[in-house]
Amino acid sequence: MTIFIPEDKVLEIRHAADIVEVVSESVLLKKTGKNYVGLCPFHSEKTPSFTVSPQKQIFYCFGCAAGGNVFSFIMKRDGISFPEAARILSRQYGINVPVQTMSKDQKRLRSEREKLLEINRQAMEFFHNNLFSAPSGKQALLYLKQRGISQETMEIFRLGYAPEGWNNINNFFNKKKIPLDIVEKAGLIVKRENKNGFYDRFRNRIIFPIFNVNMHVIGFGGRVLTDDLPKYLNSPETPIYNKSSSLYGLHRARQKCRETETIYIVEGYFDLLALHQNGIQNSVATLGTSITTDHVHILRNVIGKDGHVVLVFDSDDAGMKAALRSLGIFMNAEVDANIMLLPSGHDPDSYLFEFGYESFFDIAKSAKSLISFLIDTLIEKYGLTVEGKIRVISEMRETLASIDDSVARSLYIKELAERVGIEENALLEKVRELSFRNRSSTKRDTFFNNDFARNHRKNGFRKADKRKSFHGKWTRLEQQIISMMLQFPPVLSEIGERGILDLFEDNHLKAIGDLILAHQDCSDIKIDDVINLIEDDEERGIVASMAIGENKWDYDGCLNILNRFESIRNKKEDTLIKKIKEAEDNNNFELLSKLLSKKQKMAVLSEKKKMALLK
Ligand code: GTP
Ligand code: MN
Repeated sequence: MTIFIPEDKVLEIRHAADIVEVVSESVLLKKTGKNYVGLCPFHSEKTPSFTVSPQKQIFYCFGCAAGGNVFSFIMKRDGISFPEAARILSRQYGINVPVQTMSKDQKRLRSEREKLLEINRQAMEFFHNNLFSAPSGKQALLYLKQRGISQETMEIFRLGYAPEGWNNINNFFNKKKIPLDIVEKAGLIVKRENKNGFYDRFRNRIIFPIFNVNMHVIGFGGRVLTDDLPKYLNSPETPIYNKSSSLYGLHRARQKCRETETIYIVEGYFDLLALHQNGIQNSVATLGTSITTDHVHILRNVIGKDGHVVLVFDSDDAGMKAALRSLGIFMNAEVDANIMLLPSGHDPDSYLFEFGYESFFDIAKSAKSLISFLIDTLIEKYGLTVEGKIRVISEMRETLASIDDSVARSLYIKELAERVGIEENALLEKVRELSFRNRSSTKRDTFFNNDFARNHRKNGFRKADKRKSFHGKWTRLEQQIISMMLQFPPVLSEIGERGILDLFEDNHLKAIGDLILAHQDCSDIKIDDVINLIEDDEERGIVASMAIGENKWDYDGCLNILNRFESIRNKKEDTLIKKIKEAEDNNNFELLSKLLSKKQKMAVLSEKKKMALLK
């Protein structure tokens, strides 16, 4: 049954519930000034950075950037949905929420996401039952047994079997009167070309359901039982499945990852099952892609900021290449990454099958840091002749220069100098040149130079498009203005009247600002009201982090910032005019048209601003 909580009840619950009380059930809190602090329940840490504000009724962790109000806390703590969290709180605070069955309209409105998850769940059960009870599943069961997969592992990972034939899943959902176009959207069936109807995507394959951390099935992988190709078939990208941010096995790995502060990353489904079955539950598999920034941020959240990643790769060339590609991603996320290479001809599954986990751990002990691995690989490739050394250094130079942390950088430079046998200072000079060039061209403009941002960069989980939006040139000031709005409501009317938000370049921040303006209440804002309206988990964290700060604002200080912001925007317009003239002089029409449309956009904004002033 889908739970549905009426809006007025949500309000009542929010007024009754106290965040300090609720958090205290699972976190030992200590009072410091206006706030309470404790050890964050969402990542492992030794010094408390989890902060709760009773006044604002919000929480924020300076370590992992989780943040929100009392509802978001419960949702995150228990991995449940909003209505479920509201239910728990209503019971706790004795608020009577009538059980409502959904009306037809409400049912129709139920999100597509929920429908897709439900379809996947039913499909998973269908595949799973087939493996164990259908006559055709026998062969698949035998295959799994031969590969050493225990019955228990099959149950834990809900493995299944998609029978031979084109219409099994098709008929299964058809009989249940579930519209097939949504089953297609889930990626389970495929539209026939030039004909009516659909056919099953997965046929005669072992099925691996892919879970998210909330234990919902978001997609499937399927393996043939023979040598046919393709060996594996995965769900396509759907509204609920995105392979570059999903990791197979994560739902079972989190606990052990927190305990050990270590996670093993393998490439295949069978590799992952083998590790788990051998008691190495702190492991996940990438789903046929190389490691992405999203993956690394997820990993970081489960192992904590002092945790380690161990990449377990086959010694084949593809494995090496994958390791090299992921180097920069790990380094920039400041995640300690190591690599263990298995003897040639083995993958984790075959190795564990043949030699067992003790032998596996022996190799794990000798795992190298990614950077030493990179140096070794290059030396092996180019040798240590004079020419070889030059090539090794020139390939490493870029990577070294891209390391932000200067201590880490100089350690690596030292390591490389020693390995290659050249003067450390000479190498340092070369890297410094390049790193200065990098920095002055790209790093200067980032807004990441306050505590919130530093923590966020180190630990936060941010999707790539959002990161781009947060790197905008003026976002540092824009972010400051949003903090000001959250922490010093008297300035809100000024910001509204001057149309400051219309000058924002970062749409993300502008949307947050608009939300705040729309929810001010006699020059005051209810921060947890605003947070409640934000659907995105990460955005909630951002707002909480800005709101919880203890900056001392005064009216004049605020006006100063607003004036500076406006004048920078105006100066920007001057520069633009200069550039337009130059482009005209040089007959660079492509650039000219780009600049003109930019100018047009700015003109519209400044018009809006003038109108606001006249109001
Ligand atoms: P087994 O032969 O069953 O042990 O598989 P493996 O995991 O050892 O295979 P391999 O190392 O070839 O592939 C590693 C992972 O890459 C697999 O688990 C899949 O996720 C993915 N993969 C491999 N082959 C294919 C393919 O043909 N298509 C797709 N989409 N993914 C594949
Ligand atoms: Mn294998």
